[in-house]
Amino acid sequence: MLKNASAKYRPFPLIELPNRRWPSRSLSSRPIWCSVDLRDGNQALAVPMNVGQKLDMFDALVKCGFKEIEVGFPSASNTEFAFNRRLIEEKRIPDDVTIQCLVQAREDLIEKTVQSLMGAKQVIIHMYNSTSPAQRKYVFGKTKEEIVQIAVRGAQMIKDRLHRLEESGTKVTLQYSPESFSATEVDYAKEISEAVMDVWQPTPEKKMILNLPDTVEVAMPNIYADQIEWICTNIKNRDSLIVSLHTHNDRGTGTAATELGLLAGADRVEGTLFGNGERTGNLDIVQVAMNLYMHGIDPGLDFSDMNSLIRMYERTTGMTVPPRQPYAGELVFTAFSGSHQDAIKKGLVGYEEHQTFWDVPYLTIDPKDVGREYREVIRVNSQSGKGGVAYLLESEFGIELPKDLQREFGPVANDEVDRLGREVTATELKDMFWREYIERVDPIALHHFHADGVDGAFTCRCSLMKSGSEVGIVGKGNGPIAAFVDAIIKDGDVPSFEVANFREQSLSSGTEASALAYIQIKRADGRTVWGAGVDTNIELASIKAVVSAVNRAFAL
Ligand code: KIV
Ligand code: ZN
Repeated sequence: MLKNASAKYRPFPLIELPNRRWPSRSLSSRPIWCSVDLRDGNQALAVPMNVGQKLDMFDALVKCGFKEIEVGFPSASNTEFAFNRRLIEEKRIPDDVTIQCLVQAREDLIEKTVQSLMGAKQVIIHMYNSTSPAQRKYVFGKTKEEIVQIAVRGAQMIKDRLHRLEESGTKVTLQYSPESFSATEVDYAKEISEAVMDVWQPTPEKKMILNLPDTVEVAMPNIYADQIEWICTNIKNRDSLIVSLHTHNDRGTGTAATELGLLAGADRVEGTLFGNGERTGNLDIVQVAMNLYMHGIDPGLDFSDMNSLIRMYERTTGMTVPPRQPYAGELVFTAFSGSHQDAIKKGLVGYEEHQTFWDVPYLTIDPKDVGREYREVIRVNSQSGKGGVAYLLESEFGIELPKDLQREFGPVANDEVDRLGREVTATELKDMFWREYIERVDPIALHHFHADGVDGAFTCRCSLMKSGSEVGIVGKGNGPIAAFVDAIIKDGDVPSFEVANFREQSLSSGTEASALAYIQIKRADGRTVWGAGVDTNIELASIKAVVSAVNRAFAL
């Protein structure tokens, strides 16, 4: 890179727009959506979709709720032409869906496009030509006036064929795109668009679509918004136009540009699923729709089954959805960080209790709304804390660790996960818990336990295994646990301790219901240590929990 970037690159000029209104507006309704997956998205694939894949995607787009779908560039290839004919002849286009086709302002291409559309119920013919200074100078070598004439002649050629389409029962809307609009002088974009309008003669009842593409993002999104507001304010017969946005993502702000463009007065948005498209891609239409949704505006597009949509997208395009793609990526509703996990856990509980507006920390929307599960939300790696560990044990296995025990087990699990150096599953966490608490047999293991008594006077007789030998012990207390503790202390091998805390819960695994008991003991030096035991018998589970606590407290 150059030290002196200004020797090669220059800032983008501001748009003269005094009293711009878009910054103080907010969005309150959805735009008209148009998917360009099957054209702009398809054009960007190393291996373009075949007819079968295009049909698969077309059906999925219809299912999402798209009412306008750019299905291709039928004059550009036989596949695209054949696809149009299949859609029309096999009556695959629902009555409320309009297909759109792209074409350059050239007679042979317009003729082929018209032929491909015969018999459809309603279509949008999308004609474009490039208008920016660089395109005019380097690509076409034409003056502004000559470029206007290309657009005017193209519009006239379509108009001349209108009667043939109308006779075949097809209603036609014209869409005109001054391609590279965002790099074009606004007054020239207005001039060329108005010249096309003069040919087409749109009315408020029969509007023309004026699509204003950010073909290559060349400036910040506020500049695009200014360009859109400038056109909306200055173009003639605004009420005879549907102003449409078509952003790409070269500077990574395609979504922002579209949203600000809507504030600036546009009515319609073109984009693709997950932002597929040339170079850095087209606008990700899912993002804009879901951004409206998260502010309580029904986008009119349904992404409830995001996972199926992603599978369809990957199957048909050969592309993948990155794990951090907003709303869709595998990791976007996942928290690894301990403090985030803790906040999400509390937020989810709060939301369940109050069921008011969604305000769970770190989650912009309820993952359930796009078919994701809460269990995906919290995942554990070395960045995670006790909250995530506890959440997974509880959500996957119903193990409800007492708060204090969470604090104790959290660092134990964290050390182990850190050593592994990867994400761990809930099953692995459970195994860690089992190894650390339930399966402890050293220095003592329970061999046999029996206690009886009445009115708070219990005697326990049991045997322990110590270093491979069986040792009988006897103790007394006001309950079986107290009697067992007394027996262990009297045996004399472990220092004195007392029970500080006791919790139990039932646990169903498979068909067998069992009990999980947690005991916290306090050593003479004041240190507390937890133990846990599991058994089909609740009394035995708690006795095993004492053994576990003793082993942990005195083997440490
Ligand atoms: O990006 C673009 O400018 C286009 C036009 C053809 C609308 O795709
Ligand atoms: Zn494009």
